[in-house]
Amino acid sequence: MKTYTNVKDLGNLQDAIKEALEIKKNRYAYKNIGENKTLLMVFFNSSLRTRLSTQKAGMNLGMNTMVLDINQGAWKLETERGVIMDGDKPEHILEAIPVMGCYCDVIGVRAFANFESKEFDYQETIINQFIQYSGKPVFSMEAATGHPLQAFADLITIEEYKKTPRPKVVLTWAPHPRALPQAVPNSFADFMNEADVDFVITHPHGYELAEKFVRGAKVEYDQMKAFEGADFIYAKNWAAYQDPNYGKILSTDRSWTVSERQMAVTNNAHFMHCLPVRRNMIVTDEVIESPQSIVIPEAANREISAQVVIKRLLENL
Ligand code: CP
Repeated sequence: MKTYTNVKDLGNLQDAIKEALEIKKNRYAYKNIGENKTLLMVFFNSSLRTRLSTQKAGMNLGMNTMVLDINQGAWKLETERGVIMDGDKPEHILEAIPVMGCYCDVIGVRAFANFESKEFDYQETIINQFIQYSGKPVFSMEAATGHPLQAFADLITIEEYKKTPRPKVVLTWAPHPRALPQAVPNSFADFMNEADVDFVITHPHGYELAEKFVRGAKVEYDQMKAFEGADFIYAKNWAAYQDPNYGKILSTDRSWTVSERQMAVTNNAHFMHCLPVRRNMIVTDEVIESPQSIVIPEAANREISAQVVIKRLLENL
């Protein structure tokens, strides 16, 4: 593996899940593979889980780890070519990236969509610049349009908790006070479409995701109907993708908040969310605290998904 930005980079998904479950049984089995190798994690945005789990994964593999928060202590970076740099950004990303590449062996990048330009976001301008100019293997720690470490952890969690060979998995939109990127639902759909699951997406009209990620998935606009017989409910907010509303909030309808009312029509479904989650906007206290909620083991699997990806990048150095 040379880069990790989407499900295809993992190759055979069943092999990837098997490798993840083996690593989970003995996460120090490959502690020599990263000896004298350095992992650099570059954050343009905040994080709790990604920061800790990815650093832990690197340490499990024997790596030295460094974290750079671009907006806290580093020079502010200009990201577009052709700009006259007479503003508040003293360094261009096209110098900064190859310099970062000099100090490490593998680079993780977190750079969210900023909703200023759909083209800039959906071309994955920032992470692609790292891939092009760093000279090092690059993996996404959530980019503008995808969060593949999260989706891989989600898939591992579903594999661990499923009670039927082909479970029904429902991705549901839920309300949120801020405009959030589509990265998590995009990658979740990307993975579920490749996995052996019955996958359904439900959201209000206007929240249709990009066709590239939805592919053949069933889209059901009636949330209660979508939840019927579900084995897993995956809740997430996202802002509108479709033009002319890209990046806008179209609804804050709290009847979409996942509560016991909707969970009652499922097949005693497990509740999932990538976290951080806003309680009583996305999900009620009762549902997230219920025995069917698996948000903590889901977060724990972030260490495992990161470890598989970093291990594969190290093996290809
Ligand atoms: N789920 C996730 O990526 O969490 P953080 O934003 O805290 O890293």
